Amino acid sequence: MAASHRLSVPGPPVTVARGSLGSMGPEIIAASPSFSYAIVTDSTVGPLHGGRLAGSFPDHERVSVLTVPSGEGHKTRDSWATLTDQLSSTGHGRDTTIVALGGGMIGDLAGFVAGTYMRGINLVHVPTTLLAMVDAAHGGKTGVDTPAGKNLVGVFHRPAAIFIDPEVLATLPLREFQAGLAEILKHGIVQDAQYFTDVVAELPGLLSQSAAVGDSLTRLIVRSVEIKTGIVARDEREHGLRKILNFGHTLGHAIETASGYSLLHGEAVAIGMCAEARAAERAGIAEAGTAEAIRGAVCLAGLPTARPLDVSVERVLQLARADKKKRSGTLEFALPEKVGRMAGGDSGWTLPLPDALVEEAMQ
Ligand SMILES: NC(=O)c1ccc[n+]([C@@H]2O[C@H](COP(=O)([O-])OP(=O)(O)OC[C@H]3O[C@@H](n4cnc5c(N)ncnc54)[C@H](O)[C@@H]3O)[C@@H](O)[C@H]2O)c1
Ligand SMILES: [Zn+2]
Repeated sequence: MAASHRLSVPGPPVTVARGSLGSMGPEIIAASPSFSYAIVTDSTVGPLHGGRLAGSFPDHERVSVLTVPSGEGHKTRDSWATLTDQLSSTGHGRDTTIVALGGGMIGDLAGFVAGTYMRGINLVHVPTTLLAMVDAAHGGKTGVDTPAGKNLVGVFHRPAAIFIDPEVLATLPLREFQAGLAEILKHGIVQDAQYFTDVVAELPGLLSQSAAVGDSLTRLIVRSVEIKTGIVARDEREHGLRKILNFGHTLGHAIETASGYSLLHGEAVAIGMCAEARAAERAGIAEAGTAEAIRGAVCLAGLPTARPLDVSVERVLQLARADKKKRSGTLEFALPEKVGRMAGGDSGWTLPLPDALVEEAMQ
């Protein structure tokens, strides 16, 4: 096994270790001692990696594997009901740890199950997408979608620990991998210019040999986790600083919805970051050159830099206004001052932008 990083981050302990999946059981037991364990996974990840994780628990009888169909369409109250019924019928009581093995969809769904089953049981995240490793598994947000929108029903529920084996990314489709890179770039932009530069330098190598998950990717994951958990620790309930993590998301969420979810979240966020940075620069909030640096990086990551033509500017603005981030009619954004530093520290880390500027930036 390659080097194991036990991160000294605030919040739940995070371990990043290449090739660790097949020996994770005892570590999970140590981090979250329980009578039984329920691995919740999806129909894609389960067959690829579920057996190895389940087999790593010394006492197999106390481990069940519950599988839901893969895809965001199954992050629902129905899946929550099915899973909680399965937990009951397989005899899982309060002294159970839920092990979420999958991407952000499984993390959110299994996390919501753990946060609500018998008023809350232990949770361990084993994220298997790049996005979940650097973003979704950290911060304690869980939930499911409803017909009215994404993540509308949920709870905050902290995991006992997070275990990351970057080598499971070898089976992740390239497009999903690239979507995760959007959040990694975002972490650099909101907090760490040197990290942004490092990521950009590594991008060609990461994309040309995405099957070879090496030490450079592991290092990037470690730093990204440090940035995200550092920000969350200072503002767990998203009243202030945590809002900087919404960079690219005010427009990104709206673009994602307007595309009918044909764009992945990370792809929509990539487009949102480009447009929001451009608007920030036109408004005199961001230094000259910021938007171009961000666009160049997004492009190098193989991510889209502009909205698809069938996604109209009017529709995006309409959806963004309907989103919860609006305040008093004017759209509020988390905007960079430059790469590595966000603006708006005096105003709760969000700033209004005139509609005309936003429209122009999206053209
Ligand atoms: N809680 C949070 O703070 C937070 C933050 C960001 C995103 N999210 C949520 O995360 C979800 C998106 O997460 P995602 O992008 O990981 O999507 P996902 O979990 O749907 O995974 C994407 C696809 O990749 C497959 N997959 C996962 N790991 C794999 C692997 N190692 N090999 C092969 N295939 C694999 C999945 O089966 C799925 O088909 C959304 O529901 C979003 O709302 C939550
Ligand atoms: Zn995001």
